[in-house]
Amino acid sequence: MKDFKFDVDYVRDQFPAMARTVNGYPAAYLDGPGGTQVPKRVVDKVNDYLYYHNANCDGAYATSRESDAMMENAREVFADYFNCGADEVAFGANTSSNNFRLALGLVRTMEPGDEVLITDIDHEGNRSPWRTLEDFGIVVKSVKINTEDITLDWDDFKSKLSKKTKVLAINWAANSCGTITDVKKYIDEAHKYGALTVVDGVHYAPHKPIDVKEIDADFVLCSAYKFFGPHVGVMYVKKEVGEKVKTVRVMAYDNEETPHKFETGTPDSELVMGAAECVEFLADIGERHTKYFEDEIIGLTGRRRNVVAAMLAIDKYEESMAVQLRTRLRKYPGLKLYGVPEGEPRTSTVSFTIDGVHTHDIGVFFGDRGLFVWDGDFYAIETINNVLKLKETGGVLRIGLAPYTLQCEIDRVFEVMDEFYKVIGK
Ligand SMILES: Cc1ncc(COP(=O)(O)O)c(C=O)c1O
Repeated sequence: MKDFKFDVDYVRDQFPAMARTVNGYPAAYLDGPGGTQVPKRVVDKVNDYLYYHNANCDGAYATSRESDAMMENAREVFADYFNCGADEVAFGANTSSNNFRLALGLVRTMEPGDEVLITDIDHEGNRSPWRTLEDFGIVVKSVKINTEDITLDWDDFKSKLSKKTKVLAINWAANSCGTITDVKKYIDEAHKYGALTVVDGVHYAPHKPIDVKEIDADFVLCSAYKFFGPHVGVMYVKKEVGEKVKTVRVMAYDNEETPHKFETGTPDSELVMGAAECVEFLADIGERHTKYFEDEIIGLTGRRRNVVAAMLAIDKYEESMAVQLRTRLRKYPGLKLYGVPEGEPRTSTVSFTIDGVHTHDIGVFFGDRGLFVWDGDFYAIETINNVLKLKETGGVLRIGLAPYTLQCEIDRVFEVMDEFYKVIGK
């Protein structure tokens, strides 16, 4: 596919934030894994809901009926995003809250001594909710990481999985350094033991197409603010599982059905509208790039086809810049990159440390020059602080690419790196 050209101008034109400057430098948003910028059309959708359709659910009057219809439409939009049914899409405040809710629901049918398996590669949003179940007598075990490449240790997973395992909560892509886990392999194994599987797709979602049927997960969680949306969480719930399990919510009716039984109370409707508009935005990006991916999207139709094309195009665009970033960063003395070897599955998130330098100092130096990067542990506390033991030195410096990232911004990273190295005298 030699002639691939990503329409980055179309993408950037949608984001008012791209016009920002800092100390005379154009702002470069390399902080996507923490949260992306928001296109105007998404903000317009949120406003449109609040201005013209704002109402609580199930009323017998115009705005309430419109609001209900818009919520159901949002589920259909996300059904195309996940490749599932509209009745398999639930919304909630954010992924951590969705996980807490899920954990508190699932524990209702567990016995003391039952086990839950979490992982050392996960963000606390997919660990803490499950760890709270220790208070209910549940044994929580965590799968180790191979420290040299930050991947999950399959043998450790196998040794901890048993008939007692009721839930496997696993990460799809690590926000600390971009490692992608072959979750299907883990899910298939966990299912053999009758465990339910919860996949944290938060960092995976902005970079790759999601197909929940392909991985056969029972739950997949993601957060719209990581892919151009407002702060709201979205969750896929496999229908046959959703129908069986207990949830926590207001006890108004006995006959609550999935997916509504996974939503505790009044939904964040305006934010859900914004989140659905992100998927429409992705579909529009995809439509401009389908010609490059005819083989990959064969058999797909409509919005699903365009969303998959969008994610393939975004991935391809980001990947070429990420490879460049990693290749050029490797040349700096004392710089250590984290993650899998080149060619292994990963996202476009690049993390590193510099020997003898507190990472926060790099973050400040970059930030003052308009390069918005993250430093720290990003709540991947087990990986960064406990396994890699980087807490004292400020964690890692994380550069995250997004479809609005420009090649000239990558070049600026190296201008600023050169400048930083002069300052530290390396
Ligand atoms: C991989 C990953 N999982 C979970 C979360 C938590 O998501 P939320 O902020 O929606 O609770 C984050 C947030 O950064 C994340 O990166």
